[in-house]
Parts: sequence; structure tokens; C-alpha cells
Amino acid sequence: MNQVPAIKLNDGTLMPQLGYGVWQVPDAEAERAVGTALEAGYRSIDTAAIYGNEAGTGKAVAASGLAREELFVTTKLWNGPKQKWGRDQVLRAFDDSLAKLRLDHVDLYLIHWPRPMRDDFVAIWKTFEEIAASGRARSVGVSNFRPADLERIAAESELVPAVNQVELHPLFPQAELRAVHAERGIATEAWSPLGQGKELLTLPAVTAIADKHGRSAAQVVLRWHLQHGNIVIPKSVTPARIRENLDVFGFELEAGDIAALDALGAGAAGRRIGPDPAAFDV
Ligand SMILES: NC(=O)c1ccc[n+]([C@@H]2O[C@H](COP(=O)([O-])OP(=O)(O)OC[C@H]3O[C@@H](n4cnc5c(N)ncnc54)[C@H](OP(=O)(O)O)[C@@H]3O)[C@@H](O)[C@H]2O)c1
Repeated sequence: MNQVPAIKLNDGTLMPQLGYGVWQVPDAEAERAVGTALEAGYRSIDTAAIYGNEAGTGKAVAASGLAREELFVTTKLWNGPKQKWGRDQVLRAFDDSLAKLRLDHVDLYLIHWPRPMRDDFVAIWKTFEEIAASGRARSVGVSNFRPADLERIAAESELVPAVNQVELHPLFPQAELRAVHAERGIATEAWSPLGQGKELLTLPAVTAIADKHGRSAAQVVLRWHLQHGNIVIPKSVTPARIRENLDVFGFELEAGDIAALDALGAGAAGRRIGPDPAAFDV
């Protein structure tokens, strides 16, 4: 049933290339939504402390009856500005996430945003190195890091992030960042892979390819990611869409289809939907 390929991270861990994201799913709904995803065959779940749904996610994982080693659970440190992020605060936040998730380890722990104006992500990363060494996170990585931020991590610490999770979709393809990842051995994980289900899925360039393959626009966009080697974590609370987004391994885009989708984000810097990591500090 589960045909999702695995991506080998730079620490040897295998991560499913397609998972299920739960941003904006209220905690009370998360148990049902994550339960539906696990039943459909997803084995990777992407949550975060700030999503407020680690508890509901943990309940669904516990209720699934699946063996822990079959699952890949990601959460993220909310390094928001409300407190100073020294070693103790990071470890406390990590313990809190594990407790809410009802787990003794996660598969991937990410620094949610670099917040470069605070100049503290290198110090946070050093505590992440410690967390990785303890085995309580099988892999550690970052999110929303820019090439300059990755350069600082490389210059000032030992461990290379396994993953950088960033906004990425055909309208914002992040070509430069993906090239930096390839050079440094960092896996690219795409957030808002469907462009948040908005304009992207209605563009004639996308719907024409979808019609040709007898697939939905969302499925075509997910294939574009998979064929580019991106890890994807589409979110949906709609059971039929949850299943549809996983049913993307029975067809392939042709080179011309990929080129047409690449063209959507070519030229200018592309169009972000979410915040710019250079300025994001809330
Ligand atoms: N690290 C970060 O800073 C960061 C930031 C943003 C997101 N993320 C992660 O990335 C995940 C995915 O990103 P996202 O939630 O922003 O956006 P997304 O996955 O690109 O799109 C989700 C939206 O698309 C709709 N949708 C899903 N499948 C569809 C389909 N087959 N056809 C039509 N519409 C569909 C959903 O509607 P319904 O739910 O109503 O079905 C929802 O409104 C998040 O859940 C989160 O885990 C991380």
C-alpha cells in the first residue's frame, strides 16, 4: 500500500519523500485528521510547537497501532522572540514537544526560523547537535534558512543540517537555495507545496497537464516536486484530498510537463506566499 520512496538524509536516516503537514489544523481536529492520513498510508507527519497540535498528533499516532519504527515524526522549535533561547530553554521546549507527542524521540527536529536579526541560531544549533547525539532526535535540521544562514552554520559548527524545510512550489521554486543544498548535502523539504491550494492549482499551465494525465492539479504539482527530488508535506483536512495527495505514484510527468511547470517560476525571484525569512521575527 505504501509506495512512498525514501530519501536518504546525510546522517543515513531514511525519510519518506511524501508526508502529511498539519499547520492550521486545530488540536481538537488533529487526532482525526492525522488518523485519516495514517489510515490512508502516510507514514510521515510534520507538526511544530507553534501549530498547537502536537498533543492531537500524538494521540493519533498512539491510537494508530503502528510500530514506532514505521513512523517518521517531525516537529520544530518555536524560537520566537518571547524568551532568550539558551541551551536550557531549547532543551525544555524539546522535552515539552516530546511529552505532547507522547514520544521518547522524534525523527526530525527543526529550528523553525533563522531570525537572523536575533543572531542566536548558531547557539541554538549547538544544542541541536547535543539533541542529535542523545538519540532523542534521529535527525536535526533547519527551516526557512537562507544560503547565508547555512554558510554560518557550516563555518561555526560541526554538524550539517539534514534538511532545510522552506517555502517551495512552482511559483517559488528556490533554484538558488536548492543548488546550495545539493552542494552541502542538505535535503530540500517543500512547505506549502501546493501553494496553499490557491492560485497555483487554477493556472491553465497546471490544469492542462492535469487534464492530459487524467489527474488533479494538486497531484500534478506534487509529481513536479517528487520528480525534482523535493520532500513534500501537503496539508489537507479533507479526507478525499488526503487520499488524493498520496495517490501520486501511478503516473509520471513528461519532460515537457516539468519544463512548463518550471517556467511558472522562472525569471523574477518568484512569488512567495509566506513571510521572508530575512525579516520574519514573530
Ligand atoms: N516550516 C515552516 O515555516 C512552514 C510554513 C508553512 C507550512 N509548513 C508545513 O507545510 C505543510 C503544508 O503547507 P501548507 O499547509 O501551508 O499548504 P499546502 O499543503 O500547500 O496547501 C494546503 C491547502 O491546500 C488545500 N488542499 C490540499 N490538498 C488539496 C487538493 N488535493 N486539491 C485542492 N486543494 C487542496 C487544503 O485545503 P483543505 O485542508 O481544506 O482540504 C489547504 O487549504 C504545513 O501543513 C506545515 O506542516 C511549514
